[in-house]
This record gives sequence, structure tokens and C-alpha cells, in this order.
Amino acid sequence: MTTTTADDTTDDPAVLREQMIREIAKRKYLHHDGVRDALRAVPRHLFVPDAPVRNAYQHNLAITTKPNTSGGRLPRSCASVPTVVAMMLEYVYNGPPEDTSAAPPVNVLEIGAGTGYNAALLAEVAGPGGHVVTIDIHPDVTAEARSSLDALGYSRVEVITADGVGGYPASAPYDAIIATVGPWDLPPAWTRQLAPGGRLVVPLRFRGNSRCVQFFRDGDLLRAESSRLCGFIPMEGPNQDGERETVLDAAGALTLTWDADQDITPAALVPALDQPGDTVWSGVILHDGESFDAIWLRLAAAEHGACRLSGATSEGLPDLVICARTPAVVDGDSLAYLVLREIEAAPGGVRRNELGAAACGPAGAAVAARFAEHILAWDTDREALPTITAYPAGTPDDDLPSGQVIDKPSNRVVISY
Ligand SMILES: C[S@@+](CC[C@H](N)C(=O)[O-])C[C@H]1O[C@@H](n2cnc3c(N)ncnc32)[C@H](O)[C@@H]1O
Repeated sequence: MTTTTADDTTDDPAVLREQMIREIAKRKYLHHDGVRDALRAVPRHLFVPDAPVRNAYQHNLAITTKPNTSGGRLPRSCASVPTVVAMMLEYVYNGPPEDTSAAPPVNVLEIGAGTGYNAALLAEVAGPGGHVVTIDIHPDVTAEARSSLDALGYSRVEVITADGVGGYPASAPYDAIIATVGPWDLPPAWTRQLAPGGRLVVPLRFRGNSRCVQFFRDGDLLRAESSRLCGFIPMEGPNQDGERETVLDAAGALTLTWDADQDITPAALVPALDQPGDTVWSGVILHDGESFDAIWLRLAAAEHGACRLSGATSEGLPDLVICARTPAVVDGDSLAYLVLREIEAAPGGVRRNELGAAACGPAGAAVAARFAEHILAWDTDREALPTITAYPAGTPDDDLPSGQVIDKPSNRVVISY
């Protein structure tokens, strides 16, 4: 085995690969030896030959391989961020939490072949007797993936050019299906093509957010107890365009993102931006570096109007907590969104902030008060994650558990604590 040490100057791929693995593990995205071995075995730089080798092994860098020539913000294809790749691979590898002895999958389908790098990792996880199929919608992308996989001895991986919405019935049932592209609606073919108890690892978009969800098939349902924040290229194709986005303010700086099933009329919110109310401070303290993305889940599980604001607020309104994505709740002509204020540092100088909800519009105070309650609920157990269940569309309300229902063309997704 190659001996490696931390090195800021080397271009040796083996050294850089070990450094990348260490960085991923340090951030707690890597626990399994099986996943570590796969990351070690596959030379990522050879799947992104146009990128400098050091970039290929940055733990937090996605590498664009097919730019978006029609002006969109995101590329048409890329090699995903290695930290996210490892996190998703662990979800593929792991069985349900109650079954720690579950074997890693041997028959795996990937939607979103991209460079072929992840398919090679999946082939390592599935082992020499396993079977991996990877699909991409773009023929130039699959051609590149095929050639890289062949060059590295992964000819056993099947590469298919197709819309991944139909899955790949010829090799079903799968022990695991992984989407490395972000669907808005979950295609029913994926559930059908999973073996009973099989895993679907998918970066699902809902309520302006994107989370990688580890579902398990249970009859015609998909049920998940675990999910993690992640961003992905949106999936192309039918039923995948249910996310709505519009600029709210005259300056064109503040954007609202929501789902097609939500009762949100952006025009009704425009006057609210000129009617700021008092921020409701929750008393909940956030130390520097602490994550708070699960607040979004608390909102999604409780509020039909949970959504996202991004950009910058105009004068008179508090700043968004994160410019790129701040959780918000819309209710008719009013809204509230997450903010923070710095308070006195903790002993030792650690910076501290208090979380709150900024109010806008006639009913803003009431919406912000509810929002603050959700912050408090999150604070009672910050690690708690909701159960996310996807029922087939048409499932009657009476057959759904309590929680918020997100209606999409093919499923009714229920988020419940
Ligand atoms: C983030 S890239 C995948 C990265 C890849 N797994 C890798 O290891 O390099 C997402 C890919 O999904 C593909 N894609 C988008 N919509 C699709 C669809 N409906 N069916 C199949 N592939 C799709 C894109 O062409 C793109 O190559």
C-alpha cells in the first residue's frame, strides 16, 4: 500500500486521494471500511481528465463536465462533490438502522451516470460478482462514462442512455437504486424495480430544500428515517419541474422558491415586504459552526407554507440567515423567515448567535411566532430527523399518517416527527 502524509504541494494522485479520504472522514461523512476501500480503489482524476489533478481530489469540489449553454445556473453534468458522494455511498452500503448485519447491495442501479466515477465506486461496493447499471439522459455523457469505465477495467458496469425516470427493468429487482441527480417527483418505476426492503438513495427536492434521503421499500411505499442536506443538479424530464421560483422585490434581489402543490401567490406577498414586523427571538443559541439545517425539516413537517428565500432583503428588513437558502414560511399575504443576531461570546470567545423569525405583512407576527415555536421544537433534540414516507399518488388522506403532506404527481410525501 502507498504510504501517504499530508502534503500541500504534491500532484501524486494516490497521496491526494488519501488526503481527500481523510478530509471526508474528519467531517463525519465516512464510517464504513467498505466505502473507504472503494474510494481508495477508484482513481477519480481519470474520470475528470480535463481538471487539474489537485482539483479532482478536493473533498468539497464538484467538477463541471458539461456546462449549461442555455444560461441556467447549474451545469448539465458534473462529477459530484466527493464528500456527498461518500455520504450517499454509505447510505447505499448501509441496511436499515435496526439491521446492522445487512449485506451491502450486489445489484445496483444508478440514475445519473455523469463521468462514471460513482458507478465505478458502486462496482467496488457490489464486488466482482455484483452488477451495476448506470443511466444518463445525454448520449455524449454516457459515451465518456463508457470509455473511462472501460479504460479502468470496469467493463462489467452497464452504461445506458435513457431518461432515468423509467429505471431499467431488464436488470430489476435491485438491492439499491441511487439517484445522483435531484428529482422533484419520485418516479414509480424506481419503487417497482426495488427488491422488497431495497434502498433508494435520492436527493429529493421539497419545500425549496434538497435532502439526500435513504428510503427503504415497504410494499408500494418508501419509508425513510434518515436524510442529510445536499444539493444536486435537478433531474430533467416529465414531472420534474414542479419547483416554482420567482423574484419578489422590485430590486430583483430576493427570490422565493416553493412547490407546485403549495397555496402560495407571490404577488400577494409583494406588499408584505414593505410591512416588516418585530422579529420574534426564540432564545435558542447557536454557537459558531453548529448546523441548523434540520429547522427546515421541522417547518416542512408542520407548515404547509414552508419554502425558501434566497438573495438579499431590501433596506428595513433583517438579513436572510444564509443568502443562498433561508427557510421561510408563507401564509397568505404574510411571511416569516429565519434570522440570527450576535450575542455576547461564550467564555473562551466562541461566537454565539440567537435564532429568530423575521415577520412581514399583516399576519407576519403570528407566522413568526409559529416559526419561533418550530425553532424551539428543533432545539429540544437537534439530531432528531423526521420519518419521510412516499405513498403512491391517490392514497386517501385517511390512509396517511399525521404530518404535512407534499403532493406530487406520482406520490404523496409525508413528513412527520
Ligand atoms: C451530478 S451528475 C452525476 C454525477 C455522476 N454520478 C458521477 O459520478 O460523475 C447528474 C447527471 O444526471 C444526468 N441526468 C439529468 N436528468 C436525467 C434523467 N432524467 N435521466 C438520467 N440522467 C439524467 C445528467 O445528464 C448528469 O450527467
